[in-house]
Amino acid sequence: DWTMGAYKDEAIRKIREQVGDARVICGLSGGVDSSVAAVLIHEAIGDQLTCVFVDHGLMRQNEAEEVVAMFRDTYNIPLIHADEADLFLGALEGVSDPEVKRKTIGRLFIEVFEKHAKSVGGAEFLAQGTLYPDVIESVSFSGGPSVTIKSHHNVGGLPEKMGMKLVEPLRELFKDEVRALGRELGLPAHFIGRHPFPGPGLAIRCPGEITREKLEILRKADAVYIDQIRKHGLYDAIWQAFVALLPVRTVGVMGDGRTYDYACALRAVTSVDGMTADYYPFTHEFLGETATRIINEVKGINRVTYDITSKPPGTIEWE
Ligand code: XMP
Repeated sequence: DWTMGAYKDEAIRKIREQVGDARVICGLSGGVDSSVAAVLIHEAIGDQLTCVFVDHGLMRQNEAEEVVAMFRDTYNIPLIHADEADLFLGALEGVSDPEVKRKTIGRLFIEVFEKHAKSVGGAEFLAQGTLYPDVIESVSFSGGPSVTIKSHHNVGGLPEKMGMKLVEPLRELFKDEVRALGRELGLPAHFIGRHPFPGPGLAIRCPGEITREKLEILRKADAVYIDQIRKHGLYDAIWQAFVALLPVRTVGVMGDGRTYDYACALRAVTSVDGMTADYYPFTHEFLGETATRIINEVKGINRVTYDITSKPPGTIEWE
């Protein structure tokens, strides 16, 4: 008889067996997957675990502060807040190719993890919240040819020469199972219900070159959009929603002046496991109200579009 309780006990046993008395660092992104992995591993090995939250400067509005506060205050799991925005944004300067972005970010994550593996006194293991769909999607697309669609930084991006072994206790699970495991571990409901957020963060929601100015605009627009979704009670009906800031400026008119600002695209999908997805059927009223709010409240955007592509043929993220 298979239950999450039994799965949890078995996972804890396996982690202890794999790790022994070695030290482990766990990359924490603030998402459900890495948080569940961290809490699970902490139950298994206690203070042999240190979490590392890599703030790459590509998080959403207030996200870094919220994640750090939650882990320090609620869980009492030792946590390093690595503020590496300059490192990541510096390396991404002038980069517009999506795969180069992903690989650059993946490489820097490893660098930062290796640095902190040393700083905690020599961690032998790196833990990650890799899920089953991450594993298969980085090798082949379901039903399609065996090609890499995207380099997931927490799978394909890991260099062989990395001096750490991996602990990936969620590698056999789908998202809904990770959420069930999270409930079993006592994580708060509002946290378990959070939409997925990709490791490369806003970098892959800002097609083309990334600048701090663009990231600031994107953060504000995304916050307004998510606020709209929550106010309309739609958050839990949607698998994932975000704004992508498009690398194109368009002409508009506001008051009695001409504007020449960025266009953005709203994305919202329903899905069971992220492998396939349908765009969310918002009402015209919702879309109109949201577009008006974004244009009024976010300086730098004067045009809002809605992405009605399903997956396949689109992917959920734009890069
Ligand atoms: P795509 O865009 O491939 O995304 O349809 C499927 C799901 O995976 C998330 N995603 C990532 N998650 N590292 C992650 O941890 C990544 O590199 C990555 N790329 C995409 C995406 O947000 C969606 O939920």
